[in-house]
Amino acid sequence: MVKVGVLGATGYTGFELLKIFHQHPEVEIAFLSSESYAGQRYAQVYPCPYEEVLVSPDEAPLDAADVVFLCTPHGASAPLAQRVLEAGARCIDLSADFRLRDAAVYGAWYHTHPLPHLLSEAIYGLTEIYRAQIATARLVANPGCYPTGPLLALWPLLRQGALMDERIIIDAKSGVSGAGAKPSPTTHFVTVHDNFSAYNVGHVHRHTPEIEQELSAYAGRPVRIVFSPHLLPVSRGILSTIYIRTVPGWDLERILDAWQTAYAHEPFVNVLPQGSLATLAHTVNTNRCALSAASAGVEGEYILITSLDNLLKGASGQAVQNMNVMFGLPETHGLIA
Ligand SMILES: NC(=O)c1ccc[n+]([C@@H]2O[C@H](COP(=O)([O-])OP(=O)(O)OC[C@H]3O[C@@H](n4cnc5c(N)ncnc54)[C@H](OP(=O)(O)O)[C@@H]3O)[C@@H](O)[C@H]2O)c1
Repeated sequence: MVKVGVLGATGYTGFELLKIFHQHPEVEIAFLSSESYAGQRYAQVYPCPYEEVLVSPDEAPLDAADVVFLCTPHGASAPLAQRVLEAGARCIDLSADFRLRDAAVYGAWYHTHPLPHLLSEAIYGLTEIYRAQIATARLVANPGCYPTGPLLALWPLLRQGALMDERIIIDAKSGVSGAGAKPSPTTHFVTVHDNFSAYNVGHVHRHTPEIEQELSAYAGRPVRIVFSPHLLPVSRGILSTIYIRTVPGWDLERILDAWQTAYAHEPFVNVLPQGSLATLAHTVNTNRCALSAASAGVEGEYILITSLDNLLKGASGQAVQNMNVMFGLPETHGLIA
Protein backbone atom coordinates (compact mmCIF):
# COMPACT_ATOMS: atom_id res chain seq x y z
CA MET A 1 0.00 0.00 0.00
CA VAL A 2 1.19 3.53 -0.78
CA LYS A 3 0.57 5.94 2.11
CA VAL A 4 -0.62 9.29 0.74
CA GLY A 5 -1.06 12.71 2.30
CA VAL A 6 -2.73 15.79 0.84
CA LEU A 7 -1.99 19.39 1.82
CA GLY A 8 -4.81 21.74 0.76
CA ALA A 9 -7.26 18.83 0.56
CA THR A 10 -10.46 20.88 0.57
CA GLY A 11 -10.04 22.58 -2.82
CA TYR A 12 -11.40 21.19 -6.09
CA THR A 13 -8.26 19.19 -6.94
CA GLY A 14 -8.06 17.87 -3.36
CA PHE A 15 -11.65 16.61 -3.56
CA GLU A 16 -10.90 14.88 -6.89
CA LEU A 17 -7.84 13.22 -5.35
CA LEU A 18 -9.91 11.92 -2.45
CA LYS A 19 -12.50 10.44 -4.84
CA ILE A 20 -9.69 8.68 -6.75
CA PHE A 21 -8.04 7.41 -3.54
CA HIS A 22 -11.31 5.81 -2.46
CA GLN A 23 -11.40 3.75 -5.66
CA HIS A 24 -7.64 3.04 -5.76
CA PRO A 25 -6.77 -0.52 -4.66
CA GLU A 26 -3.29 0.28 -3.32
CA VAL A 27 -3.64 3.57 -1.47
CA GLU A 28 -3.94 4.25 2.24
CA ILE A 29 -4.69 7.82 3.36
CA ALA A 30 -2.12 9.08 5.90
CA PHE A 31 -3.62 12.56 6.31
CA LEU A 32 -5.68 15.28 4.64
CA SER A 33 -4.95 18.87 5.65
CA SER A 34 -6.95 22.08 5.71
CA GLU A 35 -6.40 25.46 7.33
CA SER A 36 -10.08 26.44 7.18
CA TYR A 37 -11.67 23.11 8.18
CA ALA A 38 -9.10 21.52 10.55
CA GLY A 39 -10.84 19.20 13.01
CA GLN A 40 -13.88 18.67 10.78
CA ARG A 41 -14.85 15.53 8.85
CA TYR A 42 -14.43 15.71 5.07
CA ALA A 43 -18.18 15.06 4.67
CA GLN A 44 -18.79 18.41 6.36
CA VAL A 45 -16.93 20.21 3.55
CA TYR A 46 -18.46 18.61 0.44
CA PRO A 47 -21.60 16.49 0.02
CA CYS A 48 -19.81 13.11 0.08
CA PRO A 49 -19.53 10.04 2.29
CA TYR A 50 -15.87 10.51 3.31
CA GLU A 51 -15.32 10.45 7.07
CA GLU A 52 -11.61 11.35 7.23
CA VAL A 53 -10.91 14.12 9.74
CA LEU A 54 -8.91 17.09 8.41
CA VAL A 55 -5.78 18.20 10.23
CA SER A 56 -4.09 21.59 10.06
CA PRO A 57 -1.08 21.75 7.69
CA ASP A 58 1.25 22.38 10.66
CA GLU A 59 0.07 19.18 12.37
CA ALA A 60 0.08 16.97 9.27
CA PRO A 61 2.28 13.90 9.97
CA LEU A 62 4.41 14.31 6.85
CA ASP A 63 6.72 11.43 7.78
CA ALA A 64 3.74 9.04 7.89
CA ALA A 65 3.29 9.43 4.11
CA ASP A 66 5.25 7.89 1.24
CA VAL A 67 4.05 10.69 -1.03
CA VAL A 68 2.40 14.04 -0.34
CA PHE A 69 0.24 15.86 -2.90
CA LEU A 70 0.24 19.66 -2.74
CA CYS A 71 -3.17 20.99 -3.81
CA THR A 72 -2.25 24.49 -2.71
CA PRO A 73 -1.91 27.78 -4.60
CA HIS A 74 1.37 28.69 -6.27
CA GLY A 75 3.52 30.56 -3.78
CA ALA A 76 2.16 28.46 -0.90
CA SER A 77 3.38 25.17 -2.41
CA ALA A 78 7.16 25.75 -2.55
CA PRO A 79 7.81 25.99 1.22
CA LEU A 80 5.44 23.07 1.81
CA ALA A 81 7.39 20.98 -0.73
CA GLN A 82 10.59 21.69 1.16
CA ARG A 83 8.99 20.47 4.42
CA VAL A 84 7.71 17.32 2.69
CA LEU A 85 11.11 16.46 1.21
CA GLU A 86 12.86 17.13 4.55
CA ALA A 87 10.40 14.72 6.20
CA GLY A 88 11.57 12.03 3.78
CA ALA A 89 8.40 11.78 1.65
CA ARG A 90 8.15 12.20 -2.10
CA CYS A 91 6.12 15.14 -3.37
CA ILE A 92 3.71 15.79 -6.24
CA ASP A 93 2.94 19.50 -6.50
CA LEU A 94 -0.18 20.43 -8.45
CA SER A 95 0.70 24.14 -8.40
CA ALA A 96 3.00 26.03 -10.78
CA ASP A 97 5.83 26.42 -8.26
CA PHE A 98 8.19 23.86 -9.82
CA ARG A 99 7.03 23.69 -13.46
CA LEU A 100 9.40 26.31 -14.86
CA ARG A 101 13.01 25.19 -15.00
CA ASP A 102 14.45 28.72 -15.06
CA ALA A 103 14.12 30.73 -11.82
CA ALA A 104 14.37 33.98 -13.80
CA VAL A 105 11.38 33.00 -15.96
CA TYR A 106 9.45 32.03 -12.80
CA GLY A 107 10.40 35.41 -11.32
CA ALA A 108 9.17 37.27 -14.40
CA TRP A 109 5.76 35.55 -14.37
CA TYR A 110 5.17 34.96 -10.63
CA HIS A 111 7.55 36.29 -7.94
CA THR A 112 11.11 35.61 -6.85
CA HIS A 113 11.39 31.84 -6.42
CA PRO A 114 12.08 31.02 -2.76
CA LEU A 115 13.82 27.69 -3.49
CA PRO A 116 15.49 27.91 -6.91
CA HIS A 117 17.82 25.00 -6.12
CA LEU A 118 14.81 22.65 -6.19
CA LEU A 119 13.82 23.69 -9.75
CA SER A 120 16.58 21.60 -11.30
CA GLU A 121 15.47 18.56 -9.32
CA ALA A 122 11.77 18.81 -10.14
CA ILE A 123 10.49 16.63 -13.00
CA TYR A 124 7.73 18.02 -15.19
CA GLY A 125 4.89 15.57 -14.65
CA LEU A 126 3.52 15.06 -18.16
CA THR A 127 3.47 11.30 -17.75
CA GLU A 128 3.52 10.21 -21.39
CA ILE A 129 6.66 12.27 -22.09
CA TYR A 130 8.67 12.14 -18.85
CA ARG A 131 7.65 8.70 -17.52
CA ALA A 132 11.22 7.42 -17.00
CA GLN A 133 12.30 10.48 -14.97
CA ILE A 134 9.01 10.53 -13.01
CA ALA A 135 9.58 6.93 -11.90
CA THR A 136 12.59 7.92 -9.78
CA ALA A 137 11.68 11.54 -8.93
CA ARG A 138 11.46 12.93 -5.41
CA LEU A 139 9.63 16.04 -6.62
CA VAL A 140 7.14 16.06 -9.50
CA ALA A 141 5.73 19.31 -10.90
CA ASN A 142 2.30 18.30 -12.16
CA PRO A 143 1.44 20.19 -15.39
CA GLY A 144 -1.08 22.99 -15.60
CA CYS A 145 -4.58 22.22 -16.83
CA TYR A 146 -4.29 24.24 -20.06
CA PRO A 147 -0.83 22.96 -21.14
CA THR A 148 -1.51 19.19 -21.04
CA GLY A 149 -3.75 18.89 -24.15
CA PRO A 150 -1.70 21.12 -26.50
CA LEU A 151 1.58 19.56 -25.32
CA LEU A 152 0.34 16.02 -25.99
CA ALA A 153 -0.91 17.10 -29.44
CA LEU A 154 2.26 18.95 -30.44
CA TRP A 155 5.02 16.75 -28.95
CA PRO A 156 4.96 14.03 -31.66
CA LEU A 157 4.91 16.70 -34.38
CA LEU A 158 7.58 19.06 -33.04
CA ARG A 159 10.10 16.33 -32.27
CA GLN A 160 9.84 15.23 -35.92
CA GLY A 161 10.29 18.77 -37.22
CA ALA A 162 6.80 18.80 -38.75
CA LEU A 163 5.92 22.43 -38.08
CA MET A 164 6.78 25.37 -40.30
CA ASP A 165 6.24 28.10 -37.70
CA GLU A 166 7.95 28.96 -34.45
CA ARG A 167 4.63 30.59 -33.55
CA ILE A 168 1.58 28.46 -32.77
CA ILE A 169 -1.93 29.72 -32.04
CA ILE A 170 -3.77 28.01 -29.18
CA ASP A 171 -7.36 28.99 -28.53
CA ALA A 172 -8.55 27.26 -25.34
CA LYS A 173 -11.82 27.12 -23.42
CA SER A 174 -12.06 25.97 -19.82
CA GLY A 175 -14.86 25.09 -17.43
CA VAL A 176 -15.13 27.21 -14.31
CA SER A 177 -13.61 24.69 -11.86
CA GLY A 178 -10.25 25.57 -13.45
CA ALA A 179 -10.28 28.72 -11.33
CA GLY A 180 -10.45 26.81 -8.02
CA ALA A 181 -13.03 26.79 -5.25
CA LYS A 182 -12.68 30.39 -4.10
CA PRO A 183 -15.31 32.48 -5.91
CA SER A 184 -14.44 35.77 -7.60
CA PRO A 185 -16.48 38.33 -9.58
CA THR A 186 -15.31 36.77 -12.89
CA THR A 187 -16.23 33.21 -11.86
CA HIS A 188 -19.48 34.09 -10.10
CA PHE A 189 -22.50 32.11 -11.40
CA VAL A 190 -24.22 35.27 -12.62
CA THR A 191 -21.16 36.31 -14.66
CA VAL A 192 -20.48 32.88 -16.16
CA HIS A 193 -23.95 31.41 -16.70
CA ASP A 194 -25.33 31.96 -20.23
CA ASN A 195 -22.12 33.81 -21.10
CA PHE A 196 -18.82 33.05 -22.83
CA SER A 197 -15.75 35.23 -22.52
CA ALA A 198 -12.05 35.44 -23.28
CA TYR A 199 -9.60 36.49 -20.58
CA ASN A 200 -5.84 37.06 -20.15
CA VAL A 201 -5.33 37.28 -23.94
CA GLY A 202 -2.09 38.68 -25.40
CA HIS A 203 0.78 36.58 -24.02
CA VAL A 204 -0.14 37.29 -20.40
CA HIS A 205 -1.75 34.09 -19.06
CA ARG A 206 0.64 32.40 -16.59
CA HIS A 207 0.51 29.06 -18.44
CA THR A 208 2.16 30.71 -21.47
CA PRO A 209 5.80 30.28 -20.31
CA GLU A 210 5.08 26.70 -19.26
CA ILE A 211 3.73 25.77 -22.69
CA GLU A 212 6.56 27.63 -24.46
CA GLN A 213 9.20 25.98 -22.25
CA GLU A 214 7.94 22.51 -23.17
CA LEU A 215 7.29 23.14 -26.87
CA SER A 216 10.76 24.69 -27.25
CA ALA A 217 12.32 21.62 -25.60
CA TYR A 218 10.45 19.26 -27.96
CA ALA A 219 11.34 21.35 -31.04
CA GLY A 220 14.97 22.02 -30.05
CA ARG A 221 14.45 25.71 -30.90
CA PRO A 222 12.46 28.56 -29.35
CA VAL A 223 8.72 28.24 -29.94
CA ARG A 224 6.35 31.11 -29.17
CA ILE A 225 2.60 30.75 -28.76
CA VAL A 226 -0.38 33.01 -29.11
CA PHE A 227 -2.57 31.73 -26.29
CA SER A 228 -6.17 32.84 -25.82
CA PRO A 229 -7.98 31.29 -22.83
CA HIS A 230 -11.76 31.46 -22.51
CA LEU A 231 -14.19 30.76 -19.69
CA LEU A 232 -16.90 28.27 -20.65
CA PRO A 233 -20.17 28.14 -18.68
CA VAL A 234 -19.63 24.48 -17.69
CA SER A 235 -18.19 23.00 -14.48
CA ARG A 236 -15.30 21.06 -15.96
CA GLY A 237 -13.41 20.31 -19.15
CA ILE A 238 -10.99 22.09 -21.49
CA LEU A 239 -11.25 22.17 -25.27
CA SER A 240 -8.18 23.54 -27.07
CA THR A 241 -8.12 24.49 -30.75
CA ILE A 242 -4.60 24.72 -32.17
CA TYR A 243 -3.70 26.19 -35.55
CA ILE A 244 -0.54 24.88 -37.23
CA ARG A 245 1.32 25.05 -40.54
CA THR A 246 3.37 22.03 -41.53
CA VAL A 247 6.53 21.70 -43.60
CA PRO A 248 6.21 20.00 -47.02
CA GLY A 249 5.68 16.25 -46.80
CA TRP A 250 3.12 16.38 -43.98
CA ASP A 251 -0.62 15.91 -44.43
CA LEU A 252 -3.58 14.98 -42.24
CA GLU A 253 -2.90 11.23 -42.51
CA ARG A 254 0.71 11.71 -41.43
CA ILE A 255 -0.33 13.83 -38.40
CA LEU A 256 -2.78 11.16 -37.27
CA ASP A 257 -0.19 8.47 -37.94
CA ALA A 258 2.42 10.31 -35.83
CA TRP A 259 -0.06 10.45 -32.94
CA GLN A 260 -1.04 6.79 -33.34
CA THR A 261 2.60 5.75 -33.28
CA ALA A 262 3.52 7.97 -30.29
CA TYR A 263 0.53 6.94 -28.20
CA ALA A 264 -0.16 3.38 -29.36
CA HIS A 265 0.42 1.99 -25.86
CA GLU A 266 -0.88 4.94 -23.85
CA PRO A 267 -4.05 4.15 -21.88
CA PHE A 268 -5.02 7.81 -21.44
CA VAL A 269 -4.43 9.29 -24.89
CA ASN A 270 -7.30 8.75 -27.30
CA VAL A 271 -6.50 9.57 -30.95
CA LEU A 272 -9.79 10.08 -32.76
CA PRO A 273 -10.20 8.82 -36.33
CA GLN A 274 -10.17 11.20 -39.28
CA GLY A 275 -13.53 12.97 -39.47
CA SER A 276 -14.12 12.98 -35.68
CA LEU A 277 -13.45 16.07 -33.61
CA ALA A 278 -12.82 15.99 -29.87
CA THR A 279 -15.57 17.31 -27.60
CA LEU A 280 -15.69 17.71 -23.83
CA ALA A 281 -17.98 14.68 -23.69
CA HIS A 282 -15.10 12.52 -24.97
CA THR A 283 -13.12 13.10 -21.77
CA VAL A 284 -15.00 14.73 -18.88
CA ASN A 285 -14.99 12.54 -15.73
CA THR A 286 -12.15 10.41 -17.17
CA ASN A 287 -8.35 10.70 -17.12
CA ARG A 288 -8.29 10.70 -20.95
CA CYS A 289 -6.97 13.32 -23.32
CA ALA A 290 -8.61 13.18 -26.76
CA LEU A 291 -6.67 14.31 -29.85
CA SER A 292 -8.24 15.12 -33.19
CA ALA A 293 -7.17 16.89 -36.37
CA ALA A 294 -8.72 18.42 -39.48
CA SER A 295 -7.54 20.23 -42.57
CA ALA A 296 -7.84 24.03 -42.46
CA GLY A 297 -8.84 23.94 -46.12
CA VAL A 298 -5.46 25.24 -47.29
CA GLU A 299 -2.58 22.93 -48.17
CA GLY A 300 -0.20 22.58 -45.22
CA GLU A 301 -2.56 24.17 -42.68
CA TYR A 302 -4.27 22.09 -40.01
CA ILE A 303 -6.48 22.50 -36.97
CA LEU A 304 -5.84 20.27 -33.95
CA ILE A 305 -8.57 19.93 -31.33
CA THR A 306 -7.86 18.40 -27.92
CA SER A 307 -10.06 17.87 -24.90
CA LEU A 308 -9.52 16.76 -21.32
CA ASP A 309 -11.04 17.09 -17.86
CA ASN A 310 -9.12 19.91 -16.15
CA LEU A 311 -9.55 18.30 -12.73
CA LEU A 312 -8.44 14.81 -13.88
CA LYS A 313 -5.92 14.57 -16.77
CA GLY A 314 -5.41 18.32 -16.19
CA ALA A 315 -4.70 17.91 -12.45
CA SER A 316 -5.55 15.16 -9.93
CA GLY A 317 -5.91 12.25 -12.39
CA GLN A 318 -2.51 12.94 -13.91
CA ALA A 319 -1.09 13.37 -10.37
CA VAL A 320 -2.28 9.87 -9.47
CA GLN A 321 -1.02 8.54 -12.82
CA ASN A 322 2.38 9.96 -11.80
CA MET A 323 2.11 8.42 -8.33
CA ASN A 324 1.39 5.04 -9.93
CA VAL A 325 4.53 5.41 -12.04
CA MET A 326 6.63 6.53 -9.02
CA PHE A 327 5.60 3.49 -6.96
CA GLY A 328 5.69 0.89 -9.73
CA LEU A 329 1.90 0.36 -9.74
CA PRO A 330 -0.23 -0.27 -12.85
CA GLU A 331 -0.64 3.19 -14.36
CA THR A 332 -4.42 2.90 -14.64
CA HIS A 333 -5.03 2.04 -10.95
CA GLY A 334 -7.78 4.27 -9.55
CA LEU A 335 -8.32 6.03 -12.89
CA ILE A 336 -10.88 5.83 -15.70
CA ALA A 337 -9.21 5.34 -19.07
N1 LIG B 1 -8.63 23.67 -10.61
C1 LIG B 1 -7.94 23.14 -11.63
O1 LIG B 1 -8.51 22.77 -12.67
C2 LIG B 1 -6.45 22.98 -11.54
C3 LIG B 1 -5.80 22.26 -12.54
C4 LIG B 1 -4.41 22.09 -12.49
C5 LIG B 1 -3.70 22.66 -11.44
N2 LIG B 1 -4.35 23.38 -10.49
C6 LIG B 1 -3.54 23.94 -9.40
O2 LIG B 1 -3.68 23.08 -8.27
C7 LIG B 1 -3.65 23.85 -7.07
C8 LIG B 1 -4.97 23.61 -6.32
O3 LIG B 1 -6.02 24.02 -7.18
P1 LIG B 1 -7.54 23.98 -6.73
O4 LIG B 1 -8.35 24.30 -7.93
O5 LIG B 1 -7.81 22.74 -5.97
O6 LIG B 1 -7.55 25.23 -5.75
P2 LIG B 1 -8.63 25.60 -4.65
O7 LIG B 1 -9.93 24.94 -4.99
O8 LIG B 1 -8.59 27.08 -4.52
O9 LIG B 1 -8.05 24.93 -3.33
C9 LIG B 1 -6.81 25.26 -2.78
C10 LIG B 1 -6.82 24.85 -1.34
O10 LIG B 1 -5.54 25.15 -0.74
C11 LIG B 1 -5.75 25.58 0.59
N3 LIG B 1 -4.94 26.78 0.78
C12 LIG B 1 -5.17 28.01 0.26
N4 LIG B 1 -4.17 28.85 0.59
C13 LIG B 1 -3.30 28.14 1.31
C14 LIG B 1 -2.07 28.45 1.93
N5 LIG B 1 -1.55 29.67 1.87
N6 LIG B 1 -1.42 27.46 2.59
C15 LIG B 1 -1.94 26.21 2.68
N7 LIG B 1 -3.11 25.87 2.10
C16 LIG B 1 -3.78 26.82 1.43
C17 LIG B 1 -7.23 25.91 0.76
O11 LIG B 1 -7.84 25.02 1.66
P3 LIG B 1 -7.99 25.27 3.22
O12 LIG B 1 -8.28 26.72 3.49
O13 LIG B 1 -9.07 24.35 3.62
O14 LIG B 1 -6.65 24.88 3.78
C18 LIG B 1 -7.86 25.66 -0.58
O15 LIG B 1 -9.06 24.92 -0.49
C19 LIG B 1 -3.45 25.31 -7.49
O16 LIG B 1 -2.10 25.63 -7.43
C20 LIG B 1 -3.96 25.31 -8.94
O17 LIG B 1 -3.36 26.33 -9.72
C21 LIG B 1 -5.71 23.53 -10.50
